[in-house]
Amino acid sequence: MRDFDRRKFLKTIGVSSLAIGMAPIIGSLKFSKADEIDWFQNINRVKDPPLSMTPKEKGHVPYVQLPGTVKAGEPFDLDIQIGHSLHPMTPTHYIQWIEIYLGIELVSRIELSPLCPQAKVTIPVSMSKSSTLRVMTRCNLHGIWESIKEVTV
Ligand SMILES: [Fe+2]
Repeated sequence: MRDFDRRKFLKTIGVSSLAIGMAPIIGSLKFSKADEIDWFQNINRVKDPPLSMTPKEKGHVPYVQLPGTVKAGEPFDLDIQIGHSLHPMTPTHYIQWIEIYLGIELVSRIELSPLCPQAKVTIPVSMSKSSTLRVMTRCNLHGIWESIKEVTV
C-alpha cells in the first residue's frame, strides 16, 4: 500500500511537471485546436434567414447572381462573390477555391491564391433543365462554406 502511494505520487508529479513545462508552448500557439475543429469539421451553411446572419456567415457565404431568366441550353454568366462585403485576399487569410455544381455534377472549380485581388468570379454556365445550383468555397482559416439555389429553366 505504501509503495503504491509513492508510485502514484511520483506519477502525479511527473505529469504535473510535464504540463507546467508545456504551458508556455501551448500558450504561444495563435490558434487553438478547438477553433480549427469548429470551422473545418463540417460544411458551413447559413442556418438563419440572410437578415440575421452572423458576421462570420456574412463574410464567407457565396453570393450568386443569375440573369432574370435562364433558357434551356443557352449559356449565361454566373456571378459569384464570396462574402457580402468581399472576403479578404491576403497572404494569411484568403479564399482557396470556388466550386460550382448543378445537382451533383461539378461544373467548374476555380483555384485562387492570395495574388488574386478579389474573391469573386464570373463563369459561363448552361443548363438543359431546372436544377439545384450549389456553390462551395474554402477559406484557409474558416473552412468550407456553401450556398444553394434552385434554378428554374
Ligand atoms: Fe475567412
